[in-house]
Amino acid sequence: MKTNLHGLLLYCRAGFERECAQEVIDHCGEAGHMVDAEAQAGSGFVLASADGRALHALARVLNWRDLAFSRQLLWRGKTVEGMSAGDRITPLVEAALDLAPAYTDFFIETPDTDTAKSLSALTRKLEGHLGQALDDAGAFTEDRTAPRLHVLFTATDRAIVALSWPGRRSEWAGGIPRLRMPHEAPSRSTLKLAEAFHSLLTEEEQLRLLKPGMTAVDLGAAPGGWTWQLVSRHIHVTAVDNGPMKGDLLETGLVLHKREDGFRFVPRKPVDWLVCDMVEQPRRVAALVARWVAQGLCQHAIFNLKLPMKRRYDELQLCTDVIAEALESVDKKHELRFRQLYHDREEVTGYLGVPGKAPSARKKRR
Ligand SMILES: C[S@@+](CC[C@H](N)C(=O)[O-])C[C@H]1O[C@@H](n2cnc3c(N)ncnc32)[C@H](O)[C@@H]1O
Repeated sequence: MKTNLHGLLLYCRAGFERECAQEVIDHCGEAGHMVDAEAQAGSGFVLASADGRALHALARVLNWRDLAFSRQLLWRGKTVEGMSAGDRITPLVEAALDLAPAYTDFFIETPDTDTAKSLSALTRKLEGHLGQALDDAGAFTEDRTAPRLHVLFTATDRAIVALSWPGRRSEWAGGIPRLRMPHEAPSRSTLKLAEAFHSLLTEEEQLRLLKPGMTAVDLGAAPGGWTWQLVSRHIHVTAVDNGPMKGDLLETGLVLHKREDGFRFVPRKPVDWLVCDMVEQPRRVAALVARWVAQGLCQHAIFNLKLPMKRRYDELQLCTDVIAEALESVDKKHELRFRQLYHDREEVTGYLGVPGKAPSARKKRR
């Protein structure tokens, strides 16, 4: 489909624009393309630009899953400015059709900042009118490979018009997962692990890697939000923490509580999963998780890294190197992914796993 791309638009947690910009510059650089990025501190988004050829090449390879600090990865067209209160719809439809000829559907969004949230009454009011006008203009298609239209309102008279590609974007509006807080869970951080499963694993991986009867160790488990997520999937958990576990978790028969130091604990038998939410130096946690996977104590790990106030991006790079070196030293293939979850504050959450064995070939019948 012919598109008229002006640059990239990335959504991020407000306050993390610098990290988001740095990461996209580095990532595109590794793919062989120079991009520039502008980040206004506290805005909740980053604008990046490159020449047209690079943009079209990048549009085929960039995926939001590969960018830890981006909640959403979009390709922007025009910014519509100076919209009149009487008719915002006409210039938005024109900008949408200038960017791409047809879309599967559309999201009308605002950045995730307190100031921008005041625009949500306006965007809710406009949604129905914009949908109708796009339909009247023939801007929708049944083709599932077509892009989705995103209209990001940054002021009452200003919106950035952008698109996203299926398979390369977050499917959540604003890149923010809407997860229900389970009332029986012992802590709100349960949502962090639930979100990590959704955003760090593909749907196929969630089904294949989170099965009833599997085993897990939870380091820094108290009061039990992460353990609760595993137990709700009927996974057996050894919960390691000197602090008390809350709620009825211990009565489920699926949880063994060990009051031990998470850095010294070693499971008697290897487990499927390690999860780790200890508040500790990120590089120490990275080294610990890498050791578990390198030594075959677990196959998969999800872990939280509390980033320092300064040099957060550099610290994440350093943790990535620590893990890669540990796994390479034992010649182990691995998958490492990071994401700053919506439920993460000054943190990122990582997934480290060894790729599964190929399904064994069916025996030939004699
Ligand atoms: C952020 S809380 C974990 C919350 C938990 N994931 C939940 O969902 O309820 C951090 C926990 O790590 C534990 N912790 C910190 N250092 C530890 C260590 N060296 N060994 C074991 N637990 C540790 C603390 O006692 C605390 O309960």
